[in-house]
Amino acid sequence: MTVSAPPTTDFRNEPILELRRASARESLLAALRELDTRLPLSVPILVGGDRGAAEGVDSTDPGAPQRLVARAGRASEDDAAAAVDAAVRGFRDWGARPAAERAEVLRGAAARLRERRLELAALQVRECAKPWPEADGDVCEAIDFLEYYAREALALDRGRPLVQAPGERNTMRYVPRGVTVVISPWNFPLAIPCGMTAAGLAAGNAVVLKPAEQSPASAGALADALHAAGVPHDALALVPGYGDAGAALVRDPRVHVIAFTGSAPVGLEIVRAAAETAPGQDHVKRVVSEMGGKNCVILDSDADLDDAVPEIVYSAFGYAGQKCSAAARVLVHEAAADTLLERLAGAVRVLEVGQAESFATEVPAVIERDAQERVLRYREAASDRLAASAEPVPGEGWFAPPSVVAGLPEDSPVNREEIFGPLLSVTTVRDVDEAMDVVDSLPFALTGGLFSRSPTTVERVAAWSPVGNLYVNRGITGAMVGRQPFGGNRRSGSGSKAGGPDYLLQFVEPRVVTENTMRHGIPVE
Ligand SMILES: NC(=O)c1ccc[n+]([C@@H]2O[C@H](COP(=O)([O-])OP(=O)(O)OC[C@H]3O[C@@H](n4cnc5c(N)ncnc54)[C@H](O)[C@@H]3O)[C@@H](O)[C@H]2O)c1
Repeated sequence: MTVSAPPTTDFRNEPILELRRASARESLLAALRELDTRLPLSVPILVGGDRGAAEGVDSTDPGAPQRLVARAGRASEDDAAAAVDAAVRGFRDWGARPAAERAEVLRGAAARLRERRLELAALQVRECAKPWPEADGDVCEAIDFLEYYAREALALDRGRPLVQAPGERNTMRYVPRGVTVVISPWNFPLAIPCGMTAAGLAAGNAVVLKPAEQSPASAGALADALHAAGVPHDALALVPGYGDAGAALVRDPRVHVIAFTGSAPVGLEIVRAAAETAPGQDHVKRVVSEMGGKNCVILDSDADLDDAVPEIVYSAFGYAGQKCSAAARVLVHEAAADTLLERLAGAVRVLEVGQAESFATEVPAVIERDAQERVLRYREAASDRLAASAEPVPGEGWFAPPSVVAGLPEDSPVNREEIFGPLLSVTTVRDVDEAMDVVDSLPFALTGGLFSRSPTTVERVAAWSPVGNLYVNRGITGAMVGRQPFGGNRRSGSGSKAGGPDYLLQFVEPRVVTENTMRHGIPVE
């Protein structure tokens, strides 16, 4: 077959829509109107091409919970086992195909997502209350993952050069590991399942995808695109359901790789469960685990507040603070603290809280009732330190008022636990060193930020910071595939960065062949 995939250096991020143009906005609204006529969508369990149960999991619109967006199957332990059966079969064929052929199929799936990008963005508006700019960005990121890993898989297939000696030929090749389970969260309902699934498939593994219970329809659209592009049904199963289905997949002794993105408690549980080696299991499972964060922005006394305030506000409250990279804390130098707090408070009070489908909305509803209650609980615990809040919020839907609290003691749970909602805590520090001590004391190390005009300070913090992604003099969300490979350290993750050159290595096994080339005669074949 013809292979058109160019090397990684040719990779370009998918351009986002220009939402300032009325025509772009109108085309998205038209896609939403069309989608609404088809709700609720049906998302069956999909194993080996058989469409199984399509009920048991209901996904609803967080901004209008009476709207049923999708009705999905609820996979049982038996469904999980059947999906692994199919994947074991599917792996033989898919894993044996040339890397170039697999890459071409993934790029075909990217083309299908591109064709459906308006509808897929509209689906995120409904299924996850993701505002348009973030929903469009999510679809672009999914396309990027497919394009990027397709190229990376070709590079990996060429192997790595080794030192050679006379009379000896050494080669190092990478082969797929086997059945890969992907367990994804809801907050990037297309991009995250797509990234982990694309990586598994690009490297030649068969994948069983267990998407988040809150966003099965986005995952269903991903599976459709991959199957339509040519991924065999046995090489990709979709098992919507709850955590029990994920846990059954993690336990299955035939599984080789588990790629998980989600909260730290679930990630740590998966790491523990995967370490059990069942009788007859002749391999050690590999877990790629991307987890939560408690992301801090350090603001030095010389920071430019005109830059910093809008960037901090967007980092903390964009998508209602429900990005793993979102800003949860600001550690501000005492010389800048009063001014920063006054300006942050002013900016937060006027945030537009509303339905995701409105282009004016800055802060949508949070994903579900539990999330709303969790945010309100933390906010209540810090109510005597409330500095600003955007209220009232709409009554219908899982809204939580975006809020800033200031001056909480360091050991407050609001300062140490992941809240995953629109609540920002501001702490005054003596200097950047004290801010670094605070960052260092946290178990998480996902993203971080620094606003400073001093090159020496920037250099010092960059050299020291434990976080996986540090952003300097800009917002701390919005990592782009290939440009900002993404992932955390400490309790925020045990994988190498998604959308970066090392990511695929986690889905393959290296093999080295050493051949004695000082042969005495060559047999005639
Ligand atoms: N580090 C990153 O790159 C990154 C990216 C996005 C989200 N996150 C994190 O994800 C979290 C939000 O997502 P969430 O609420 O969907 O997370 P979650 O941990 O509740 O669920 C994630 C997935 O795990 C499944 N699951 C639950 N219990 C399980 C079990 N015992 N065994 C196997 N699977 C199980 C869920 O059904 C879901 O599919 C936040 O903590 C956020 O920081 C991290």
